Amino acid sequence: MMNEAPQQDNIHVSLFDMVNALSTALDIINPALDSHQKRTCFIAASLARELGIEGEAYDDIFSAAILHDIGAIALWERLQLLEFEDESPHLHARLGALLLERFEPFRRFSHIVRCHHVQWNHGKNTQFDDQPVPMASHLVYLADRIEVLAQGNDNIIMDAPVIRERVAALSGEHFHPDLVNAFLKISSPESFWLDLMSHKMNDILMEMAPYKTVSLDLEQLARLARFYSLVIDSRSRFTATHSAGVATCATVLAKRIGMSALDTTKVKIAGYLHDLGKLGISNSLIEKPGRLDTTELSRMKTHSYLTFEILSQIHGMSDIASWAASHHERLDGSGYPFHKSGDQLPLGARILCVADVFTALTEDRPYREGMGTERAMAILDEQVATGKLDGQVVSVLRDCLDEIDQARIEAQQKEENDLASFWEMAKEVPESPFLPAT
Ligand SMILES: [Fe+2]
Ligand SMILES: [Fe+2]
Ligand SMILES: [Fe+2]
Repeated sequence: MMNEAPQQDNIHVSLFDMVNALSTALDIINPALDSHQKRTCFIAASLARELGIEGEAYDDIFSAAILHDIGAIALWERLQLLEFEDESPHLHARLGALLLERFEPFRRFSHIVRCHHVQWNHGKNTQFDDQPVPMASHLVYLADRIEVLAQGNDNIIMDAPVIRERVAALSGEHFHPDLVNAFLKISSPESFWLDLMSHKMNDILMEMAPYKTVSLDLEQLARLARFYSLVIDSRSRFTATHSAGVATCATVLAKRIGMSALDTTKVKIAGYLHDLGKLGISNSLIEKPGRLDTTELSRMKTHSYLTFEILSQIHGMSDIASWAASHHERLDGSGYPFHKSGDQLPLGARILCVADVFTALTEDRPYREGMGTERAMAILDEQVATGKLDGQVVSVLRDCLDEIDQARIEAQQKEENDLASFWEMAKEVPESPFLPAT
């Protein structure tokens, strides 16, 4: 089953597209916060430009702002009733920094995110977590608060003066006076506010992005996708290592089947990203033990479409987007969401389907142990017999069962270790009522 299609040996994907897609994925968790991070980034980048901030300092402000609430993914739903930003403002900031530190290129700005809710307090709040608070954090904090004041406004030109007054009144107290002065300057024309509320925020940010022309090669993309999987897995303890498990199974399958090195890496990336759309699904569904009812199932079925929606906006990775989003399709057309069948499902997608089912059956979950490999294989064989899964892919899985299962266990163990400090810090978050005690 060699893949004989002519091969390029690399692909290039824009770093801005990738970071922007991650920000979009986090926005879908809570539609009420739609584009909050992107609009905060617009304000922060505008402030930085006004203050003459350039080079790496500008890069860091832009990146920190567009991902500043990344640590809230495990909290949003559980704490929104408590208004988490008021009750527990620093927890999500610390969790965000912890995640960002896991990806070397993002480590540089993780501390800005850690401190993004520290108030200026007449210059008294100079330290946070035993480290100096960067001015960039004060800047992101101001941008964040302005965005919250403007959120959902449908007559922004009328209300802008009120927002300007409220921010000015907190100068010196919550916000650094120099930053407030810069804000008052840039927010004087109506165009600032109309840009802020524009539906074309992606284009506006693209123009302001420091790395708009930076592209990632395949290896860099794979490392960033691995970081995405960590973020996706940090959503819920219930499925906390699933993405890493699927990526690993799929990679070994692709290698053993004889895919090219390029396609094998693309399969790995698709594995890391396949459940990206689960960020848009309520934790109460993800963490519900047992069967979902019809209403819940129909909501759950949106997740692979959301994966497609987010990934298909990234230029240069259409194969990856399509393979990742097809992991619930079945060869007989009974899957979802596109009801692709037969030839419409290329090898990459077929591998993802098998890797996803195998991992879901064999991995341990907080409320149950994973199934033994032989029982799992019996289920996979049945799905081959009923025309749902690819027989050749499943037979390669059987041939290399011990190797693949061992690699899966090790990858999931590593993911668990990588997330251990995250969960340790997040334990002050109330458990979902749907997650049984372990
Ligand atoms: Fe925040
Ligand atoms: Fe925020
Ligand atoms: Fe899925």
